[in-house]
Amino acid sequence: MELAELQKHWDAFGAEDPLWAIMTVPGKRFGRWDVNDFFETGRRQVASQVEYFHERGMHFNRGRVLDFGCGVGRLTQALGDSFQECDGVDISAAMIARARQHNRHGDRCRYHVNARDDLAIFADNTFDLVYTNIVLQHMQPKYARSYIAEFLRIIVPGGLVFFQMPAGTEPANPEPNPSSTISHRAPLPDSAFRAKISPTEHPATVWAGSQLELIVRVKNLSGCPWKATGRELDRLGLRLGNHWLNEQNQVVEYDDGRADLPGDLEPGEEVDLVLTINVPKVPGSYLLEIDMVEEFVSWFKDKGSETSVLPIEVKTPAAERDFTPQMQMHTIDKDEIISLINNHSGKILEIQRVNEGKGLLDYNYYVTK
Ligand SMILES: C[S@@+](CC[C@H](N)C(=O)[O-])C[C@H]1O[C@@H](n2cnc3c(N)ncnc32)[C@H](O)[C@@H]1O
Repeated sequence: MELAELQKHWDAFGAEDPLWAIMTVPGKRFGRWDVNDFFETGRRQVASQVEYFHERGMHFNRGRVLDFGCGVGRLTQALGDSFQECDGVDISAAMIARARQHNRHGDRCRYHVNARDDLAIFADNTFDLVYTNIVLQHMQPKYARSYIAEFLRIIVPGGLVFFQMPAGTEPANPEPNPSSTISHRAPLPDSAFRAKISPTEHPATVWAGSQLELIVRVKNLSGCPWKATGRELDRLGLRLGNHWLNEQNQVVEYDDGRADLPGDLEPGEEVDLVLTINVPKVPGSYLLEIDMVEEFVSWFKDKGSETSVLPIEVKTPAAERDFTPQMQMHTIDKDEIISLINNHSGKILEIQRVNEGKGLLDYNYYVTK
């Protein structure tokens, strides 16, 4: 995506569900983020990062800080607590509008929309700290490279540039072999297939082809403990799932969403699960049926348990938006970033591997000039 297109997509995210687009935590979609909790994540992240700077002897003045790709100001506001001035830059006007609403620092904090591939809005040697997190991976590498060079231009000598960028994917773990694990897990007895399934809320109308998150309360009505799915039993075990049926009660999608039990569920216990479902692409009247399943063994309904069945009207998306916003994901090789920094008179203080086990080779870069 070129920058104009990228801006259109981030504006759509910013207008519709900005907090979730920034922190895609299950259960927080569709306006479910509590604003205070959301900004608290920023305070914690900045506090632990600043502590790390100190531990590693990375010192800088607390004059002016830039948060690049600031979104609604989750990190900018936290950085503003310990700097005299803070600036947030984002490509999306919708994000910046929200950021201004949440500004607690008055004139000491300024937000800017910037859809250029440079940071010409700032003079050389302006900032003591340039900070950017979960931003550079969401654009074509040619733009990320250009901004990294700009960070080095606008930082004061002796200042710090801190950015995070994935370098590629982690080597994949070998696929678990169901036949080798099945023998460790005895199927549930028939008497264990008794569940009470209660969605806590659900929309009556949804857009065709969209995704939806439902919070569903599940109670173990049987006399047997339900064991949660262990990591090694990736494809087996007990889960919540759903089917889609049309008006004629015919199944149009049998295996749609799945949600794992977070832990074992004893008889009589209940738990709230987040079930992400994919709405059918064809508009019409549907029934959404939610049920527990023991994978490769049986749906609970087929053993006599009651399901939850919700009538849902699927409509065509609003005419004013003819595209589905997308979040791009890119990587840049670590060695390439090292050369880029060297070519722009930067000095690497440290490269730190982060977010291990999440599928990406992800790094934090600490750079000065
Ligand atoms: C996942 S959000 C992270 C927001 C913020 N850094 C945080 O952690 O709370 C990514 C942000 O980067 C912004 N963004 C994407 N491309 C950008 C670009 N070329 N220039 C500035 N901001 C950009 C998006 O609009 C979005 O607000």
